[in-house]
Order: sequence, then C-alpha cells, then structure tokens
Amino acid sequence: MEIRLAKNYGFCFGVKRAIEIAEASKNATTIGPLIHNNEEINRLQDNFNVTTAQGISDIGDAKKAIIRTHGIVKDDLAKIKASDIEVIDATCPFVTKPQNIVERMSNKGYKIVIFGDENHPEVKGVKSYAINEPIVVLREDELEGIRFGHKVAVISQTTRKVSEFLKIANYLITRVSEVRVFNTICNATFENQDAVRELAQEADVMIIIGGKNSSNTKQLYTISKDHCIDSYLVENEKELKMSWFENKKLCGVSAGASTPNWIIQNIVSEIETYSISN
Ligand code: F3S
Repeated sequence: MEIRLAKNYGFCFGVKRAIEIAEASKNATTIGPLIHNNEEINRLQDNFNVTTAQGISDIGDAKKAIIRTHGIVKDDLAKIKASDIEVIDATCPFVTKPQNIVERMSNKGYKIVIFGDENHPEVKGVKSYAINEPIVVLREDELEGIRFGHKVAVISQTTRKVSEFLKIANYLITRVSEVRVFNTICNATFENQDAVRELAQEADVMIIIGGKNSSNTKQLYTISKDHCIDSYLVENEKELKMSWFENKKLCGVSAGASTPNWIIQNIVSEIETYSISN
C-alpha cells in the first residue's frame, strides 16, 4: 500500500507562531488551550512549563499570561491588561482581523452577521467586539425571519468552507439594501482543504490527523469523507485500526492546522507497519 501525504497539510502560520511564542515565554499560563491539540499542549507543559487556565478567573498567581491563537473576549483582555500580569499575545493575526472589522463596522452602525459556530472560542472572541449583539449562524436557513435593518456587515469564522459562506452572503445580498462582505477565511485553511480534496479523490483510505475539537480538522475530515468513504479522523497512532487498511492500495494522509509534525510522523510510521503486513 502506498502512503501519500497531501500537498499541503498540518501546521499553519498562526499555530507555528503561537507555539514559538509559548516556547520562548516559558513558565507562563495560557488563557484557554493555546491551540486545539491536546498532545501538543501536554508537550508545552512538560517541556516549557506552559500551563493552561480555563479562563481569567482561573489564572491563579501566574506572572505571565499568553492569549491563545483563537483570541479571547474583549472584556477579559482589557481586565488582564489592567492587572499586574504580563500579557503575551499569541492571537493569530487572521483572527485579529475579524475582531477589528466587527468593532469598526458595528461602530459605524452595521448589523453584524457572523458565519460560524457560536460555541467556538474564536467566534466568542470576535463577537465580543460588536457594540450590539451580532447574529451568529451556521446555515442560511437560520437567517429566515430575521429583521436586519438597512446595513449589514458579514464575516466568517476563519476555518469555515467558502462555498457555505457564499450562501450566507448571497442570502443577505438579496434581502438587505447594503451588505459589506468581508472574506475572513484564512488561506492556510483553503490550501489544506484543496489538497485534501485532490488526494481523497484518488485514495481508497484517508487518515485525517488532528484534535477532535479542532474546527479546521473537522472540515478536512468532512471534505475527505465527501470524496472517500473510508475516511477516518484520529488524534494519535493508538486510534488506528488495522482493518481500515486491508486490501487498500493508496492511503492518503492529511492533518489539521494545529497538528505538529511529530504526531504526523508517529502515525505515518504506524501505518507503514500495516502496509508491510498487507
Ligand atoms: Fe490562524 Fe488560519 Fe491558522 S486563522 S491559527 S493561520 S488556520
């Protein structure tokens, strides 16, 4: 069995940057998990004493606080900046961008529509920059019956699918007199998604590696499954099952933007042992 990695996979710019910041900071506490990958978070704790607090009330006597890649709620950021704690900002610049757009456009009187998961930390953070309560939706049918007013600004969670975002934008354009559409989906997401789509069309089994709480990893898995029915999402090599690879000729591998190379390597090495016995 051939094992082939997607043309683009794994760590994005924002996650790489956050990990470098955390490694350089040492002995710090992140507000919420730094990235959506538990194995990497454990490594940062063991090797660099970078611990994780669930929120600012849980930070204890930490001297340094790292803001996670997904950003945090505006009021929490203001509170922590006003304290004696040193604040190290690892928010991905692609997340800071929608935060700034939401703040600016809501100050100008636009109703804010966010395409995304309202329980995701990035969306919670972005939403908090609006002066009035934004509308957060995952599907266009959730917009039905809502009165928007005359001016709407629409943005997307960074890791969503473009085709779905266009449906939301399209819905609004046909119903509201002024709609400002901001493409806030990040390129790293596009590149990994395009590459997984291409590979999944050829492969007869696909392994997608990443945190099960990672939005972009779940998107990769969904795209892969659309093209290759035998697609599996795993966090580590222990979750692999030998039966997935029986009688398969091409195993495609991709990984979410917060998956470190050492995890990908462990998994590929394990699949190699199966392909020998195939
Ligand atoms: Fe940033 Fe995009 Fe990665 S938003 S954290 S570069 S997936």
